[in-house]
Amino acid sequence: MQRASQVDQFITERWLDEPAVDRGDLPPHDVSAPQGAMLELLARAVGARAILELGTLAGYSTLWLARALPPDGRLITIESDPRAAEIARRNLPENVKLIVAPALEALPGLSGPFDLIFIDAAKRSSAHCLHEVRNLARPGTLIVADNVIRGGALLDADSDDPSVRGVREFFEAVAAEPRLVATAIQTVGSKGYDGFALALVR
Ligand SMILES: C[S@@+](CC[C@H](N)C(=O)[O-])C[C@H]1O[C@@H](n2cnc3c(N)ncnc32)[C@H](O)[C@@H]1O
Repeated sequence: MQRASQVDQFITERWLDEPAVDRGDLPPHDVSAPQGAMLELLARAVGARAILELGTLAGYSTLWLARALPPDGRLITIESDPRAAEIARRNLPENVKLIVAPALEALPGLSGPFDLIFIDAAKRSSAHCLHEVRNLARPGTLIVADNVIRGGALLDADSDDPSVRGVREFFEAVAAEPRLVATAIQTVGSKGYDGFALALVR
């Protein structure tokens, strides 16, 4: 993967203006710069005025998404770990609303619709999160989920890894939802071999 990381660096140096972020001592589980830029592009492509993110960490992907919003746009990001939320608070502009709670507890209290929803919290609960965010979507809402390939472990039907089981359930949940037009794209890069799911509400 060293070559793939170098390519990420090449792309970042030539095309991207990375947001500054203080990660404190948090683990490096944020998206890569090219992936963050992709989130911004997708949000711009759907003309997002309201964005919901599950899984803030230090706020790196949040900052990319925030760039796509018009001045009166709204962005809500949900983080269950108070320590991560405290660091994210230092990084996020005031117009981003950070909710410190498990996503499944916070989601029923939100009012939609959101134009783009980025699911990047606990992979074991991605299917449940998908179920909850359907009520916050409208036709045209784009749902993006990260880490759905897991180095190909997605294929391991007998896996006892909760994250693998979670993404497999997520695939089933998307397949069972006729309102979604969906695909998943495998990625390589500084974050290894993984991938994103993209699902548009019709
Ligand atoms: C992969 S990281 C998010 C990275 C971030 N989106 C980025 O790219 O910069 C996942 C985050 O989700 C948080 N998390 C885990 N379970 C959660 C839950 N049930 N509800 C909300 N956040 C959760 C973790 O604490 C962690 O900060």
